[in-house]
Amino acid sequence: MAKVTMTVNGKSVTREVEGRTLLSAFLREGLNLTGTHVGCDTSQCGACTVHLDGKQVKSCTVFAVDAAGGDVRTIEGMANKDGTLSRLQQAFQDHHGLQCGFCTPGMVMAAAALLEQNPKPTESEVRHHLEGNICRCTGYHNIVKAVLAASGQDVGQIAAE
Ligand code: FES
Ligand code: FES
Repeated sequence: MAKVTMTVNGKSVTREVEGRTLLSAFLREGLNLTGTHVGCDTSQCGACTVHLDGKQVKSCTVFAVDAAGGDVRTIEGMANKDGTLSRLQQAFQDHHGLQCGFCTPGMVMAAAALLEQNPKPTESEVRHHLEGNICRCTGYHNIVKAVLAASGQDVGQIAAE
C-alpha cells in the first residue's frame, strides 16, 4: 500500500492505495466520485475521461500512484461555482447530446479539453477529437452539435437527429 495525495476538483485528498489501483477506481471507490464511469476493460470507451494536470486522460489507463501530486478534474468539478451547469453541460442538455448518459461525463471532459485548446473547432475537428469516446445511443450527431454550440457557433443550420 502507498499513501497518495493529489488535488481533485480543487481539494487536496489523501488515500492509501495498492500499487495496481487505477485512477478511475481511486476516484470512484476512494472518493465516491462516481460520475467518472468505467465502460470497458480495454481502454477504448472513454467513459472514464478526466483531466490530469490540464490534459485529457482515460483514468483507467493511469495508476493512482502515478497521478500522485497531480491536479485532477472530474465531471463533478465541471459545473459553475453556483452549482448551475457549465455552458458545455447546458449545451449537451439543450441539443439532446445524451440519451442514457453513460458516455456523457467522458464526452464532456473530452470536449472541454478540446475547447480549451481550440475554442472554435470545426465539425470535423470535434468528430476527430471525440474518436476515443464511444457512445452507443446518440449516433454522435447531437453530441457534435452540442460541442459546436458551446463554442458559440451557430448550429441552427445543422438538423437535429
Ligand atoms: S473505462 Fe476507460 S476507456 Fe473504457
Ligand atoms: S448516451 Fe448512451 S452511451 Fe452515449
